[in-house]
Amino acid sequence: MAKQQENMGMDSVLKEKRIFKASVQFSKKSHVPSMVAYDKMYKAAEKSPDKFWGDIAKNFFWFKTWKKVVNWKNPDAQWFIGAQTNICYNALDVHVGTWRANKAAIIFEGEHGDQAVYTYSQLHREVCKFANVLKRRGIEKGDRVAIYMGMSPQLMIALLACARVGAVHSVVFGGFSSTALADRINDAKAKAVICSDGVSRRGNVIDLKKVVDDALVNCPSVLNVIVFQRSNNAVSMVEGRDHWWHELAALASVDCPAEKMSSEDPLFILYTSGSTGKPKGIMHTTGGYMVYAGYSHKHVFDIKDEDVYWCTADVGWITGHTYVTYGPLLNGATQVIYEGAVNYPDWGRIWDIIERHKVTILYTAPTAIRSFIRAGDEWVNKHNLSTLRLLGTVGEPINPEAWIWYYNVVGKKKCPIVDTWWQTETGGIMISPLPGATPMKPGSATKPLPGISVSIVKKDGSPCKANEGGFLVITKPWPSMLRDVYGDRDRFVKTYWSDIPGAYFTGDGARRDKEGYVWIMGRVDDVVNISGHRLGTSEIESALVSHEAVAEAAIASRPDEIKGNSLVAFVTLKSGYHGDSDLKHELQNHVVKEIGSIARPDEIRFAEALPKTRSGKIMRRLLREIANGNMNVSGDTSTLEDFSALEKLRVHDDE
Ligand code: WT7
Repeated sequence: MAKQQENMGMDSVLKEKRIFKASVQFSKKSHVPSMVAYDKMYKAAEKSPDKFWGDIAKNFFWFKTWKKVVNWKNPDAQWFIGAQTNICYNALDVHVGTWRANKAAIIFEGEHGDQAVYTYSQLHREVCKFANVLKRRGIEKGDRVAIYMGMSPQLMIALLACARVGAVHSVVFGGFSSTALADRINDAKAKAVICSDGVSRRGNVIDLKKVVDDALVNCPSVLNVIVFQRSNNAVSMVEGRDHWWHELAALASVDCPAEKMSSEDPLFILYTSGSTGKPKGIMHTTGGYMVYAGYSHKHVFDIKDEDVYWCTADVGWITGHTYVTYGPLLNGATQVIYEGAVNYPDWGRIWDIIERHKVTILYTAPTAIRSFIRAGDEWVNKHNLSTLRLLGTVGEPINPEAWIWYYNVVGKKKCPIVDTWWQTETGGIMISPLPGATPMKPGSATKPLPGISVSIVKKDGSPCKANEGGFLVITKPWPSMLRDVYGDRDRFVKTYWSDIPGAYFTGDGARRDKEGYVWIMGRVDDVVNISGHRLGTSEIESALVSHEAVAEAAIASRPDEIKGNSLVAFVTLKSGYHGDSDLKHELQNHVVKEIGSIARPDEIRFAEALPKTRSGKIMRRLLREIANGNMNVSGDTSTLEDFSALEKLRVHDDE
């Protein structure tokens, strides 16, 4: 776990002693008002998980109730066995029958400033119409549908409509390349693609339909493409395959009963990077995911009817599934959806949106916070942020300095911060303060939610002592846990359930202090976190090796002040190729083409050879040290095959 020690802010995290508490006023009004209440809940869940989760599940609508809360035979879990429900019904229909029918569900703002409000009943209507469109296009329960769109109400409508008819959605983030999109479509054998013509990003229109067209050259399973007209950019429509959303929706009925789904029917697939091979399709099912999305959103964000909640994540990531699409709607909340970059046209945009829409809860990423710190306090201070009452972060460790800035400058010392640790695989937040209860320590995600059992262990599964670093595992099943890696059961078992005996292995290192606070130390596998987005080093390496000039490639990461980490690629070339700056740019662009711009290596270093062990394994630890500018590579190099390879890598000539 040596690499984690190098993580940004690690030193300061180890020294961090400050404790912050919510005001008495905040606590009094919150769903879980004290640590006594938290402990009580936590113990009740530990003592009788079936009763705990069963009682929570009773707050949702079920067509048919369960016979048993959970069946658990490691690694397989089934939740709410025998029950039938529909998550879209729970997100919309249940509210439409109440005063919330006319409550705003979505306040949308485009990058150019255009706005639209959807009440629960309007959203319900649009979802029903689009669900009928899907049915008309032959989409049935169990079919996979790929979604490739910019942030918009229609993106949420697309997911909800899939859920309504029982289709399994697979959202692909709009920043991924056509190759990455095609891989995901083919892996899931998606029958249809829902996309938009384009999306605004920093004043430019990104031509999403063109990316879909390029991808579909290699996707035989796709029979229909439904295109939402957002940016009015020129698109080409393939006769018989491509249809305009507005044309189909205009003909569709507003009446569409929600499909009765078994609790364990798949709800969605979401691809995420692992330490080996191609991204894997994390599969979530219906009942358990729904219960946990609603439960965790309610308690972590202390959500109330008066709140205006804003999570800045894109629906292309798990955060945008659980805490934009499903959680807030299940709780009948009002939320802001914003199309573009939060720093466009200037660094004030995010604060301006909060002021104008009177946002009360802001949930964003440490990367964004660090870039706003650099932009300067004056951008924040120009705006009236007095409506804010709660702040949150997700995706990567937040260094205490950034936490304190967020607390002081944005929250004006009156807003608790929930630092939420979780993963695509966990489906929902696992470790986080409950804002009215948990005293906060900057840089710590604090304690597991009631119902969640985590442990920090050594390789053999034995628990670590207080403050001793180890592997973070989850020891008991939880409702929103992943059920499978789509189409690859072996990989599911091997990745999550084989490393540590008897527990779910998260891939993260962590330590727990004497008061039971968890401090996440970062990934212990070959997964890197860039700006809160997950990338596999092997995935980027394969992209590089697919270029004709490249013989071998190895990716290492080093700390970056804004992005958390940045990527350095060590590359050896085939004979006849010369490593000059043109080739560097070409390789960077090649990775963008193969995966997407989030994977672009920040630096490319050409080498004659990569350091390998005698058995031929690339010694990544050494590369990491070199990437970090550490010239006197420390630790054990006794298995190194060729010392001169190392010497040459240390000399970094930038032409
Ligand atoms: C990995 C999961 C969960 C939504 C976004 C990322 C890292 C996530 C935190 C946090 C420290 C965090 C972990 C985790 N991570 N939240 N609060 N503190 N690290 O989802 O793409 O599946 O990535 O993100 O390393 O394993 P993801």
